[in-house]
Amino acid sequence: MCPATYFDIEYEINPWMRLSRQVDRPRAQSQWQELHRVLTAELGVTVELMEPVRGLPDLVFTANAGYVSGRVVLSSNFKYPQRRGETPHFEAWFLSHGYRVHRPAEECFFEGAGDALPLGEAIFAGYRHRSEICSHQKVATLTGRQVLSLELVDSAFYHLDTCFCPLGNGAALYYPGAFDAYARTVIEANVPRPIAVAEQDARLFACNAVVVGRTVVLNAGCADIEERLRKAGYSPRAMDLSEFMKSGGSAKCLTLLLE
Ligand code: ARG
Repeated sequence: MCPATYFDIEYEINPWMRLSRQVDRPRAQSQWQELHRVLTAELGVTVELMEPVRGLPDLVFTANAGYVSGRVVLSSNFKYPQRRGETPHFEAWFLSHGYRVHRPAEECFFEGAGDALPLGEAIFAGYRHRSEICSHQKVATLTGRQVLSLELVDSAFYHLDTCFCPLGNGAALYYPGAFDAYARTVIEANVPRPIAVAEQDARLFACNAVVVGRTVVLNAGCADIEERLRKAGYSPRAMDLSEFMKSGGSAKCLTLLLE
């Protein structure tokens, strides 16, 4: 995770971001602190921190650093120039912590774990709004795993982790409206226990959840999905991450899972 010290809305690169809808910075910092506290103190997760950098307001979304597999990382190649300055900082962190860093082809955009999520033996990877499908082959080659490419069709759900969330044991949350018809058939055929999220919860970022064992840390207000998670044997842990929604993000994209 990366502290929210310089988190802000300084540009608009997704439909959630509005320069006219500014972040309450003290509030954002306390929401981030609370997420950090829940993950570490409540759930026992070991969290590594990286230094925030002035002028890189989205560095807080560490999910987009790259795709991590063991000690190997496929670094991101951000679509928008506004985020490209983050890559040297993410790569420096990985290199100084003993990871081997690979890069996607220069002409091929890839936004890391925002668009590539492991489930069972496969990796589900999104493309179109941010990452491009040309990056998926490299994910497959580096990890030695099958990559299932999913086309994202709604710009509000521009990263796969905004509309798809593996829960472990073959289950996953997904918002059908974010995918094209073929991607939906791929999900239904390859996810043993898919849980479809309704639009209202999807727009509250229900799918952008951090899963720790059976606990699902997700944005507050997703009443229907909380109820269904409980019925399926999970314990939802709701958190107010409203300041980060102004940037098009929530719990999951504020973290990057290190194996
Ligand atoms: N403002 C950031 C962007 O548009 C939010 C990134 C959220 N990350 C994610 N993995 N969903 O790039």
